[in-house]
Amino acid sequence: MKVNHHALELEQNYLFSEVAKRIRKYHAEYPERELLKLSIGDVTRPLSRIITEEMKTAAEEMSHAETFHGYGAEQGEPFLREAIAAYYHKRGIAVDAEDVFVSDGAKCDLGNLCDLFDADNTVLLPNPVYPVYYDTSIMAGRRVIFADGTKENGFLPMPDHSVHADIIYLCSPNNPTGAVYSKEQLAEWVQYAQENSALILFDAAYEAYIRDPELPHSIFEIAGAANCAIEINSLSKTAGFTGVRCGWTVVPRTLQFDGASLHDMWFRRMATKYNGTSYIIQRAAAKVFTEEGLRAVQQDIDYYMENARILKEALAKAGIHSVGGENAPYVWMQCPENADSWTFFDTLLYQYGIAGTPGVGFGTAGQGWLRFSSFGTRETVTKAAAYLAAL
Ligand code: MLT
Repeated sequence: MKVNHHALELEQNYLFSEVAKRIRKYHAEYPERELLKLSIGDVTRPLSRIITEEMKTAAEEMSHAETFHGYGAEQGEPFLREAIAAYYHKRGIAVDAEDVFVSDGAKCDLGNLCDLFDADNTVLLPNPVYPVYYDTSIMAGRRVIFADGTKENGFLPMPDHSVHADIIYLCSPNNPTGAVYSKEQLAEWVQYAQENSALILFDAAYEAYIRDPELPHSIFEIAGAANCAIEINSLSKTAGFTGVRCGWTVVPRTLQFDGASLHDMWFRRMATKYNGTSYIIQRAAAKVFTEEGLRAVQQDIDYYMENARILKEALAKAGIHSVGGENAPYVWMQCPENADSWTFFDTLLYQYGIAGTPGVGFGTAGQGWLRFSSFGTRETVTKAAAYLAAL
């Protein structure tokens, strides 16, 4: 038996496992000290009552022969796919329910989509970037090239038209930097994809955090994207579903590559390897997209965005440059005194008990930067902000 040697090319630990390991070590050394956790982007607000009530109703249905559900529709239940399509339509974005595939989250879809592409493809990644794009591309044996985000370009790298790529990952609002592409910038990426007959994998998991009405929420707001892009989204951050698990991917039937329909290939892949998101969870997800559901989740989004504002204000007081936090739940700060990311991570942890995520863990261009998640409790954020303001 031979193993997949590409899997051995990865760093020993997934970034967030490495951060968790270091936090455990700190806890073991200083068990009495408080930890202010602003590292992994995991939500802390409980689910809205109307969502959990819907889960209970759906669970009750499962205990009656007349309303019991076994295996669901391969692509996801039509009621949820239609609710998702309607969510796009409200913003005037044309997405057909037939093109929506329900899943257990964006991370899984991002990894699983790799099944559709030949190993012999060049992958273009922004740097820094959500580590899943890099790790899954490497595991699949693909060549990876980068477009570097810098302080000067506001961590919104643009395509270099002299460089060829086949698959392009974009994340906007961005994880980790919180930067958001404008419509004009996304249009240039779409144009670049068309020039290269390339596919864009657009991760929109943080779109619900956009406040500026001019900024795009979806790649499908850009003309031509339905011929060159797949969009991945999830309720993890929009509705606090990190522990519930529900996401979706839009694969337009207009997407044709190499003489094949990516929609049909994805349908085939999902039918073979996935048996669907639980009926109870799909009901809860559909509830999110109702008027009262969207109102309820907006309160949590506003709460997290106020956290981001508090963190940014504290950094500004300390004279520290930061990106993000205005249309995204991540604040990306430059480490003071040219410290490298892991050194500053340790300083924050051991001096103040604050856990962030070292920027270099998201790629070489993140060296010297650190990410704060604004998904903590207000208490945690306020305490951390008081330390940060005095840095
Ligand atoms: C993060 O902290 O970047 C996210 O929580 C990771 C994820 O969504 O998988």
